[in-house]
Amino acid sequence: MSADECFLGTGRGETSYRDAMDRAVETVIETVADRERPHSGASPEELAAQFDDPVVPEEGQRLEMTIDEVAERVLRHSVDPSNPRCAAHLQCPPMIPGLAAETLLTATNQSLDSFDQAPAATVLEERVVTALCDLFDLPADADGVFTSGGTQSNFQALLLARDRYCDQQFDRNVQTDGLPAAAPSLRILCSEAAHFTGKQAAHHLGLGERAVYTVPTDADGRMDLDELDAALDDLNRRDELPFALVGTAGTTDFGSIDPLPALADRAADRDLWFHVDAAYGGALAVSDEFSDHLAGIERADSIAVDFHKLFYQPISCGALLLRDGADFRLMARNAAYLNPEAHDEGGIPNLVSKSVQTTRRFDALKPYVAFRTLGRTGLAELVEHTLELADDAAALVREADDFKLLGEPTLNAVVFRYRPRPGPGMSDEAVSDLNAAVRRELLDDGRALVARTTVDGVTSLKVTLLNPTATLEDVAAMLDAVRDCGDRVADAREVTA
Ligand SMILES: Cc1ncc(COP(=O)(O)O)c(C=O)c1O
Repeated sequence: MSADECFLGTGRGETSYRDAMDRAVETVIETVADRERPHSGASPEELAAQFDDPVVPEEGQRLEMTIDEVAERVLRHSVDPSNPRCAAHLQCPPMIPGLAAETLLTATNQSLDSFDQAPAATVLEERVVTALCDLFDLPADADGVFTSGGTQSNFQALLLARDRYCDQQFDRNVQTDGLPAAAPSLRILCSEAAHFTGKQAAHHLGLGERAVYTVPTDADGRMDLDELDAALDDLNRRDELPFALVGTAGTTDFGSIDPLPALADRAADRDLWFHVDAAYGGALAVSDEFSDHLAGIERADSIAVDFHKLFYQPISCGALLLRDGADFRLMARNAAYLNPEAHDEGGIPNLVSKSVQTTRRFDALKPYVAFRTLGRTGLAELVEHTLELADDAAALVREADDFKLLGEPTLNAVVFRYRPRPGPGMSDEAVSDLNAAVRRELLDDGRALVARTTVDGVTSLKVTLLNPTATLEDVAAMLDAVRDCGDRVADAREVTA
């Protein structure tokens, strides 16, 4: 391909761009339409065997040929999150408005690290952030920034929490002077069901994973308040220094929502930064029916919300919202080539100071296009359908005598175990072993993509019903696939209760 054909802005670029996009779109449509199963089930060895020609050949080939190869070797063997029987992870089917926005934002390649690289995009991100702060009922001086997802949002929230605490308690500027001598005593509290990125952040923040005190959960997978109070007293007795309390609005396995108002009270009493990881459950904010599940989130110091989960946007797309936008000062910086101080004084927007990234995607365009196209109520309908479907799915599991439902769904995840014949005879180890084997068999079978997780140390199965086009028939078909695989495995092992 010549340079003229490779780039837009040249006369010939227009034709090759249109041809390439048409080919790519056709390829996606054919692949998705062609696929009855959510994944091909190919093994790592089979996949590797397809890529035996050089990644960097001396001479190139026609773009259409490369697209066709990608269709055959990659898309054909990709997981298809648009398939209603693809229900393993928090991997949503990307909605078409989001796919259109993705094309617009990548083709124009705006980078949000300086106003002069992305003027309208910068202003639009600010507008979207304000709308999100309103959606979560944060006060007028709230602010936020788009992130690559929940991991980055949780990390940044805890970084700001740590630095505000060190500033207030030790008059220490961590940005310039590093951690204070008391750093080994700093503590973060979250529930035992919180996402692992809390611990990961503690590591990355130089505090170590042991700085995270995990509070036991109640029978519904929510942080247990008596245990939280005991933990706070315990830390106090040991002269340890909690600075952040993390509540989860939608735990990864069960979708449980911690008692946010009570957590907000505890955080206020002890002067802790209250962070809510709403990466999964934040989308309930658009629903008149379910937004009350998030009551208390409006009292958070920071909120992590992901659009590439229950808002149906293509990866990556998340945001961190702060109750007091002034807290971003803790990580502000100026670089002569991007955002010199004079620009701040002149009122030029400065997003790089609010982000842990420099070059940054214009991901805010995706929720913008989605909100403008569907409206709040249109989006709410999608989310609500999935929560209602999960309730019906849980009923199917509960009624079946070869499944054990492991909790009522709060959001749209249903966790259960396969058990060939109910009875007290099987040890936890045997149940774990059996369900792990069922999941392996399911991967080979290919009719449904179901996740595996561990509940109370025992391997279990999970369907995450994110897809708003999925029906109860899809759920029944997935359960049939689990049942068939389970029976095959159990028969092969002659498992009896
Ligand atoms: C509750 C929760 N928080 C954070 C994350 C991490 O988000 P991401 O994968 O977008 O970085 C996840 C991922 O599943 C999650 O479930």
